[in-house]
Amino acid sequence: MEKVQAVITGTGRYLPEKILTNHDFEKFLDTSDEWITTRTGIKTRHIADDNQATADLAYYAAENAIKDAGIDKNDIDLIIVSTFTPHMPLPSTACFVQEKLGIAGCGAFDISAACSGFIYGMSIARQFIVGGIYKNILLIGAETMSRFTDYKDRGSCILFGDGAGAIVISAQEQSDKGIIYTKLAADGSGWPLLHIPAGGSHRPASVQTVENREHYIKLKGREIYKFAVQKMQELIEDAMVQNNLSVEDIDMIVPHQVNKRITDSACGHLGFPTEKVFLNISQVGNTSAASIPIALDQAMEEGKVKQGDTILMVAFGAGLTWASAVIKM
Ligand code: ACO
Repeated sequence: MEKVQAVITGTGRYLPEKILTNHDFEKFLDTSDEWITTRTGIKTRHIADDNQATADLAYYAAENAIKDAGIDKNDIDLIIVSTFTPHMPLPSTACFVQEKLGIAGCGAFDISAACSGFIYGMSIARQFIVGGIYKNILLIGAETMSRFTDYKDRGSCILFGDGAGAIVISAQEQSDKGIIYTKLAADGSGWPLLHIPAGGSHRPASVQTVENREHYIKLKGREIYKFAVQKMQELIEDAMVQNNLSVEDIDMIVPHQVNKRITDSACGHLGFPTEKVFLNISQVGNTSAASIPIALDQAMEEGKVKQGDTILMVAFGAGLTWASAVIKM
């Protein structure tokens, strides 16, 4: 066991007040509550106000996590924000969050790994803590998906919601708690399955890109679905083997909230009962990098994840990327 453990000492989330229901979609799209519910498990998702953007959602979640950790915000050594829907292209959303918190001085940067981004961030944070570099790291997954969602595309727009989740990861010596395992993976050849074509250096914004709706998420849902079922199953099996864990040893799987059918299929196949898989997708939809920390905070609040529990996180998304983590809470 490492001398210093990277322990999750606080969690927080923020979900915007405005709610978009499946019935709301029926008013402007050729879809139905029944189709969306049976194909995805989603009923509602939260949507940011016009005057809110990613750093605002991230800041509210961060405040809640810092309060939960019981630390002074000035003791934060590093801020990492995982997002693909940043506040602005430049500077990083993490710098905006730092300004809002009023804690100039500490390091702050963003990472981009789409829906796997929160676990990528945990892996980075863990190295800084275990290596003895930092004592308290604020890690946030935050997305304003609605700004990049094409509400004329019924195959994708029904999936996404806005929100932010945050954790404080702190150094603790000789602890039996901590992030004990992370696995990061990617296959860049899969980028066409899920991407935003324009707005980057490859295809800068122009009248044409706007007219062609190229600033919105393009998704090949059926292909991602197959990839996600396979990867979720592989990730869980790998984490169990690498850490010598059985189904009984794992108290809760906190998966990326992508589609209830995907989770049911992968977890069911491996023998996990539904009460060992935390799902809030019906209320929040897919919030990409924010999905896992929002779910973790809700699970802790509801007493479904408790101190001392062993939890397994799994995620997959654009890139393609996929990742897992095992944590002793
Ligand atoms: N309402 C009604 N009908 C619809 C809708 C809708 N909202 N969307 C698509 N359809 C239609 C299609 O047009 C198609 O009709 P057709 O057979 O006449 O051509 C039919 O429903 C089936 O379409 P599919 O795309 O095959 O539907 P599927 O069962 O695969 O469900 C979904 C689509 C929900 C997107 C699914 O593929 C999925 O969950 N994919 C993976 C999740 C995903 O892509 N998440 C995005 C983020 S990625 C990530 O987080 C990893």
